Amino acid sequence: MINILFLFMCLVEGITGRIFDTMQSTLMEDLEIEKELKLINKAPVKTIYTKFGYILDCIDINNQPSLDHPLLKNHKLQKYPSFRTSKKTSSTKAILGIQKDECPIGTVPIKRTTKDDLIRGKSYFNNGLIDHMHGNHYAEVISGYFPYYNGVHGTSSIYNVSVTNDQSSCSVMYVRNGPDSTNYIGMGWHVAPELYNDYAPHVYIVWTNDNFNNTGCFNLLCMGFVLTTHVNYVGGRITDSSTYEGDIFKMTLSITQDLETKNWWLNMQDEMLGYFPASLFSDLNYAGEVGWGGRTSTSLSSPSPPMGSGVFPDNVYNHASYFTHVSFQINSTERLEPETYTVKTFNDKPDCFFAEYYGFLDEEFRYSLQFGGPGGNCGD
Ligand SMILES: *[C@@H]1O[C@H](CO)[C@@H](O)[C@H](O)[C@H]1NC(C)=O
Ligand SMILES: *[C@@H]1O[C@H](CO)[C@@H](O)[C@H](O)[C@H]1NC(C)=O
Ligand SMILES: *[C@@H]1O[C@H](CO)[C@@H](O)[C@H](O)[C@H]1NC(C)=O
Repeated sequence: MINILFLFMCLVEGITGRIFDTMQSTLMEDLEIEKELKLINKAPVKTIYTKFGYILDCIDINNQPSLDHPLLKNHKLQKYPSFRTSKKTSSTKAILGIQKDECPIGTVPIKRTTKDDLIRGKSYFNNGLIDHMHGNHYAEVISGYFPYYNGVHGTSSIYNVSVTNDQSSCSVMYVRNGPDSTNYIGMGWHVAPELYNDYAPHVYIVWTNDNFNNTGCFNLLCMGFVLTTHVNYVGGRITDSSTYEGDIFKMTLSITQDLETKNWWLNMQDEMLGYFPASLFSDLNYAGEVGWGGRTSTSLSSPSPPMGSGVFPDNVYNHASYFTHVSFQINSTERLEPETYTVKTFNDKPDCFFAEYYGFLDEEFRYSLQFGGPGGNCGD
């Protein structure tokens, strides 16, 4: 194989140097990508072929790629958080549309990364679709009133928001060190065709320790997140979404720091997904801020996609996208519900998107907020 490639390269060089240069750089990239894929895709204990066409590998929990991260050299795998977790009340499987088949206990489900995924994942990062670059807009409720946040919770309604290939739109709940957001952990759902090659909402997680300058990524596209669940997979496609004035599909999300290990645990639908180890971060011994809301991204030339359900907050639960049951923790296992004076809203383009905090609504929704808007030409 190598010889044939080499011969081919020689022949091409004979024809034109410029083609050779591109050929060579493509080959180098190919080799780099193959090398990266080998590191990412470990030998599976079992393989599941999903109905969406991609493959899930069940990897031995002690052999998962994140444990190779240079910052996790002396890391001791934590299989359970030291805090108590609530009893499972709802089914994630329905939301994620997973078939009956699941990974054996002691293994973790990881979507097999294809060459195409990796290329798309990189371009997603490089195009700045990830964060804080051109065409990123925010409509969020932020709490920075207290000094030592160690948890954030909420229930998000899910929409199949309509975006084009070079746009993405998300609902996110996060913890971060402060407004500069150098250290950040987020989770939620988003529609991001460039990342998944489809038009559907997906569960996602994201992190960085330098405001996405050199570190961080979505899901498992880079090493970092340590999976503990054998049931759910990060990046999973959501099968049911809400409709305007129709049924609401939603999911509960939690980011909770284990006060003993300082690791940040992610929970979806009362199922622990796994954690971001404390040692990944440079400044997240506790969180300076937590937040809930929506974000949109687009490439330079495109208008902004809609956010949430595409309509502005109006306090009607099946109109605008919402977070209900929002709460946080402050250096404690106790969940506190945010009174209005402890939060602020951040709407960078109020004509396009808006977030509104309602405080306590009623027993059914508890403390809630709505966010969203139609998008359009919102500028940088
Ligand atoms: C989401 O909406 C797109 C159109 O924007 C449609 O093609 C797609 O089938 C929908 N996906 C789901 C999962 O509802
Ligand atoms: C981003 O990373 C580059 C290369 O590592 C570094 O030179 C630069 O100072 C960093 N920028 C910021 C804003 O951290
Ligand atoms: C958090 O609480 C513990 C025990 O209650 C205390 O020892 C510690 O100093 C607190 N941490 C901060 C950052 O306040």
